[in-house]
Amino acid sequence: MKIAVLKERRLGENRVAAIPETVKKFKALGATVAVETGAGLGSSIPDSAFVTAGAEIAADAKTALLGANVVLKIQRPMTAAEGADEIAALPPGAMLFAALNPYAAREALPAYAAGKISAFAMELMPRITRAQSMDILSSQANLAGYRAVLEAAYEFTRALPMMMTAAGTVAPARVLVLGAGVAGLQAIATAKRLGAIVSAFDVRPAVKEQVQSLGATFVEVDPEAAKAAETSGGYAKEMDDEYKRKQAAKIHETLKKTDIAISTALIPGKPAPVLITEEMVRDMKPGSVIVDMAVEAGGNCPLSELGKVVVKHGVTLIGHANLPSRIATDASALFARNLFNFVSPMIGKGGNIALALDDELVKATLLTHAGQVVHASFK
Ligand code: NAI
Repeated sequence: MKIAVLKERRLGENRVAAIPETVKKFKALGATVAVETGAGLGSSIPDSAFVTAGAEIAADAKTALLGANVVLKIQRPMTAAEGADEIAALPPGAMLFAALNPYAAREALPAYAAGKISAFAMELMPRITRAQSMDILSSQANLAGYRAVLEAAYEFTRALPMMMTAAGTVAPARVLVLGAGVAGLQAIATAKRLGAIVSAFDVRPAVKEQVQSLGATFVEVDPEAAKAAETSGGYAKEMDDEYKRKQAAKIHETLKKTDIAISTALIPGKPAPVLITEEMVRDMKPGSVIVDMAVEAGGNCPLSELGKVVVKHGVTLIGHANLPSRIATDASALFARNLFNFVSPMIGKGGNIALALDDELVKATLLTHAGQVVHASFK
C-alpha cells in the first residue's frame, strides 16, 4: 500500500499533511510513503528528515501519486479553474484525506466521484470521544486561537500586561473574546498569560464555567434564551432576533471599553454571525484591534477584509486567512497525527488498507466512493 504526501499548492499554505513521526509509524504498519520534494519546507521539515523516517522523496506530484492508494493533504485539491487540476491527477480508486471544505466547495464532489476517489472531509469528523484524536478542527483552532492573540499584540501599539515603571504605570489591555469554543478558549488562555484583563462571550451557556476557570469574566446576555443555544453535537445554533438584539447591545457596550477583540463565532455550514457592526467599531477607542477569526466564513465584522490588515475608524482589523498556517510546524504536526489516527486503524496485516463503509466515522466523513456521492448531506 502506497501513501502519497503532496506539497500544498494554495497560496499562503505552509502546512504539510505528514511529519517524520507519522511517516515512521505508517512504515511500521507496512505502508510505503512517498513525499513530494519540498512538501515540508513551509513547516521547517527538510526532505532529509522524511528520508530518515523512511519516506521516498518524489521529484514531483505526479511521481508521488504514481500507484498511490492513499493521498494525504491539508487543503482540498485545486481544480483546473484554480490553477492546476489536482483532482484529475489523483489515481482512480485512491482514498483522499484532507480538509475538503464540502459546504463551500460542493462543486468539487462530482469531480471526486468521476475520478472514483474515496474522498474524506476530515472537518466532518464527529465530535465524540473516540474521534477526539482525529479532530482537525480542534487541533487547528487551538493553535489559531493562540496565534490570533499574538497577531493582535503585534498590531496593538500598547502593552498587554500592566507594568509599574519609574516613569509611570502602563495600564493592562482589555481583551474581549467573542465565541469561546476551542479557538476562543485558547485565545483567552493566551491573553491571560500575556497579562491582559480578559472577558468572553458565547451563546452556549455551557462555556461560562470554562471561561471563568481560565480567569476571564463571562459576559452574560440572556441566560434563559441561551439554554436553547446548543445542539446535541455541542455546536451553536442560530439565535432568534430578540436574543440577537440583546446580544448586540451588550457587545456594543463592552466593546467601548475593549482594546482588543478576538472574534471566533462560527455556525457550521452557515455564514458566520455578524457580532461587531460598523457602528460598534466606530465607538471603539482609537488604536483598538479586532482579529476576525471568522473572516473566511464571511466574518463576524463586516469591516474586516479577508487576507488583509486594514484600519477603519481608527481601529485595526486583522483578517488573516489561515491562521494555523502561520504556526505551521506545530499545526502540521497535529494535523498529521489527526490523519494518522484516522487512517491507521484501516490498515490491516501486510499493510493493506480496507474501508469499513458502515463505520460511524467513515459514514460521517466520506463524501464520495466508487463513483458516487455517498454522504447523506450532499447527495
Ligand atoms: P465553532 O468553531 O463552530 O464556533 C466557535 C464558537 O462560536 C462556539 O463556541 C460557538 O458557540 C460560538 N458562537 C456561535 N455563534 C455565536 C454567536 N452568535 N455569538 C457568540 N458566540 C457564538 O466551535 P468549536 O470551537 O469548534 O467547538 C464548539 C464546541 O464543541 C466546543 O467548545 C466543545 O464543547 C465541543 N467540542 C467537542 C469535541 C469532542 O467531544 N470531541 C471536540 C471539539 C469541540
